[in-house]
Amino acid sequence: MSESSSVKRSIITGVGSFLPGEPVSNVDLEKTIDTSDEWIKKRTGIERRHIAAKDVSTSDMAVEAARQALEHSGYQPSDIDGIIVATTTPDQTFPAVAATVQARLGVPICPAFDVQAVCSGFVYALSVADSLVRTGQSKRMLVIGAEKMTSLLDWNDRTTCVLFGDGAGAIVLELDEQGQGSIEDRGILSTHLFANGELKDILYVNGGPSTTGQVGHLVMEGREVFRYAVEYMADVVQKTLDHNNIKASDIDWLIPHQANTRIIAATAKKLDLPMEQVVLTVADHGNTSAASIPLALSAAVHDGRIKKGDLLLLEALGGGLTWGAALIRF
Ligand code: ACO
Repeated sequence: MSESSSVKRSIITGVGSFLPGEPVSNVDLEKTIDTSDEWIKKRTGIERRHIAAKDVSTSDMAVEAARQALEHSGYQPSDIDGIIVATTTPDQTFPAVAATVQARLGVPICPAFDVQAVCSGFVYALSVADSLVRTGQSKRMLVIGAEKMTSLLDWNDRTTCVLFGDGAGAIVLELDEQGQGSIEDRGILSTHLFANGELKDILYVNGGPSTTGQVGHLVMEGREVFRYAVEYMADVVQKTLDHNNIKASDIDWLIPHQANTRIIAATAKKLDLPMEQVVLTVADHGNTSAASIPLALSAAVHDGRIKKGDLLLLEALGGGLTWGAALIRF
């Protein structure tokens, strides 16, 4: 490749988010659940979460987050030619939430589909969108993580119901041909996706259309998930650094899936990254599954912490187990 030839990258040009209703604190939960603010905070770092009302659907939240991302980018719905929604809590079994979002925003005919990889969903969706953009199948996409996780909770199971929340985050991802393919050029530098279906029974929902015919409830062996999360996150961040031939100290911001501050701190320690360089929203949002990374990204972009040109490392693990990471020059 000659020095002057340009390289196709997909860059993030807008971010947005949406959280439903007023936050519900741990102390609020104490009133109806045999739990304590102290237990939840100490084990997870969660202090509050948002719980969507009965009549608020995943697509309602996705649409709001997408609107904000579009506004931030300066584009109109008519400028979009692809939509991917990462979700494990669709409005209906089908159609995809992405199709509903397309109709409600007035996005012209284009590919629109959902990706289901639970808490890793946004990283998976980003990877797929990056491929579609770089191969010219879409020029400018909405990539959304949206979840109504509280719709999957058994409110009698205190080991899981205190951990999750609802919300949505969105980005506009578009083709850029300005760079020469260096690590300094903006865009998604690499994505790394993994799954180990042998571990499907440590985190799952005990229902579904082709089995019980019911939606079901989330079931988790917390300690086992914790153990694999620490191990797999350390592995995927190392793979990302090696693949890009960079050092951990080159990273400006770690944007982890927001499930548990102890898992996040273990990953930061592995990278020798001070917690000041980790975007943390778990205290305010709880675990919002596929929405958690774009929600955190949006918070840190809109409050001015993340700036154009910063190097971002995104990483997540969820049911499947699935896990993954993305390195992005913002
Ligand atoms: N309030 C008070 N006490 C509780 C609660 C609660 N909400 N939940 C459990 N306890 C009690 C248990 O009954 C147990 O009591 P016992 O010792 O008398 O039996 C005690 O607390 C310890 O329970 P553990 O389950 O062993 O607690 P642990 O330290 O493992 O923490 C937790 C649980 C927070 C769930 C942790 O295991 C964890 O964070 N796991 C990872 C979760 C995760 O990362 N998920 C990400 C993916 S999520 C997705 O993909 C959808």
